[in-house]
Amino acid sequence: MADTQIFIFDTTLRDGEQVPGCKLNSDQKIEIAQQLEKLGVDVIEAGFPVSSPGDFKSVSDICQAVTEPIVCGLSRAVERDIEVAAAALKHARRPRIHTGIGTSDMHIRHKLHSTQEAIIERAVAAVKYAKSFTEDVEFYAEDAGRTENEYLARVLEAVLAAGATVLNIPDTTGYCLPEEYGAKIRYLRENVRGIHKAILSTHCHNDLGLATANSIAGVQNGARQVECTINGIGERAGNTSLEEVVMILRQHPDLNCITNIQTRLLNETSQMVSELMGMPVQPNKAIVGANAFAHSSGIHQDGVIKMRETYEIINPLDVGVDHSKIVLTARSGRAAIAYRAKTIGFELSKAELDVVYERFLVVADGKKEVGDEDLAGIIMNEFAAVV
Ligand code: KIV
Ligand code: ZN
Repeated sequence: MADTQIFIFDTTLRDGEQVPGCKLNSDQKIEIAQQLEKLGVDVIEAGFPVSSPGDFKSVSDICQAVTEPIVCGLSRAVERDIEVAAAALKHARRPRIHTGIGTSDMHIRHKLHSTQEAIIERAVAAVKYAKSFTEDVEFYAEDAGRTENEYLARVLEAVLAAGATVLNIPDTTGYCLPEEYGAKIRYLRENVRGIHKAILSTHCHNDLGLATANSIAGVQNGARQVECTINGIGERAGNTSLEEVVMILRQHPDLNCITNIQTRLLNETSQMVSELMGMPVQPNKAIVGANAFAHSSGIHQDGVIKMRETYEIINPLDVGVDHSKIVLTARSGRAAIAYRAKTIGFELSKAELDVVYERFLVVADGKKEVGDEDLAGIIMNEFAAVV
């Protein structure tokens, strides 16, 4: 079976930048956009141009700073938003306007004070208006995760007929279960007339920690674009993490999906975004966390030293990390101590290792981590005459 191309739509600079206190200036956004281009993302959502003059300028600057990716600007289903987005995208080689409106009962009744029929009219009008500026128009059905499938299908059929090229199905509140979200995508694929003409896109939030699982369920059921952010940053609990989705698709050839992402740049991209936003990455974060390739228990260390794959499903080099880390703690065993001792220049015999290990345990019980200098100190003290 031929592999399916999954398009990676990065929204670090739009949805991701909505993290409180992590605003970026225009130069920082350009730096990130250029890194995203190197990384190989297919679409960069550069901002929400009508939201502020600064965001307008950033979107416009990014259009001139990158060449390959599609550059996308967000708008509500409001004429002025669409006009401003189109103006900001003027210099893009491949512009896309992303427009849409809430479709769940919750949004229609309590946010938009409207009706289902009126929402369809607004959605169609927005797509038609956006089409008068650019061929590529993505429509988002905000809160699609909580929108009843039959109504959602009607909305999508109408915007497709109006010319939408991409249909975004956001789980805006991160509510869906993976099976439910996957079934929604399948339902839309099977029930929206003309759906084969458009790309179906996932856009999952992480309120229940399910954003990545939901995005993958979407892909398994026919979505061909995944919207995500570096490090999974974003409002509240964040968005789908780009590095997780990309590595899941890569590590599971059984899914028959490929992306254009240069995975060896994932780690440096993660660090760049973290530093520029002043937002640390949690150490146990999948793929890019400081501990993603660190082993501290004796059983695991023994296995990894014998053969890395015993406890690692990803080669760290594939995501731009030099090597796996063997961290010495009170849970470490002789194999790890011998290994670390060798890397710092001490080849220990079995008898020497026994002696060092006893001393090591005393030191390790009093510390969170035993560093190379501590280990060297232990060895020198025990074998002062030898070394
Ligand atoms: O989460 C969401 O629904 C969004 C849309 C604006 C695409 O970010
Ligand atoms: Zn979102």
